[in-house]
Amino acid sequence: MNRMKFLALVFFGSTLLAGDTLIDAAKNAGLKPIPSEHKAQMKLIKEFQKDLTAAKADLGKKLYFDPRLSKSGVISCNTCHNVGLGGADGMSAAIGHQWTANPHHLNSPTVYNSVFNTTQFWDGRSPHLGDQAKGPMQAQPEMAITPKMAEERISSMPEYIAEFKKAFPKDKNPVTFEISLRP
Ligand code: HEC
Repeated sequence: MNRMKFLALVFFGSTLLAGDTLIDAAKNAGLKPIPSEHKAQMKLIKEFQKDLTAAKADLGKKLYFDPRLSKSGVISCNTCHNVGLGGADGMSAAIGHQWTANPHHLNSPTVYNSVFNTTQFWDGRSPHLGDQAKGPMQAQPEMAITPKMAEERISSMPEYIAEFKKAFPKDKNPVTFEISLRP
């Protein structure tokens, strides 16, 4: 075996070993893959399903793509979690408000299937999606908007008011920042 081949084998071997260790660590921490059967998947989102309506889903989709939810008016959720790029952005560190790179050098995880995650974020610090979504909108290096500014912007657009009313018919004041946690 020549020297180059030997080095290549050692390199690939160590990569595999590192991979195994990571998978083992994840399994030992109690992480499980998302089940592939539809029925088992639906079980995981039972609590969301009972509150989900077509009106809420349509509104959520619109908000996801709307850059007016950022202070600058140019960054939407889709900027970093581009659904045409697998729900991520292909950058080594996410770039947000005023082209600031993520201060912890974190890249954007895909949002695909994130509804099935038992916790959110790379370190799992957020308990569920409803809690998570408030973070990036307010984070300085991401969308940098305040809840008040977001509510004022949305309330200035009659079409949005109508859609919030449709999504939350029982609420007297349907346009609030806390939408994700309300039934
Ligand atoms: C500036 C880029 C950027 C923007 C804008 C952004 N995100 Fe993120 N998102 C990230 C990064 C980076 C992380 C990982 C952060 C961490 O782990 O601390 C993340 C994490 C997430 C996660 C967790 C996924 C997982 O597997 O843990 C979800 C869900 C998510 N974002 C949804 C959204 C939504 C919804 C919006 C819009 C309201 C949004 N993001 C806006 C960069 C962004």
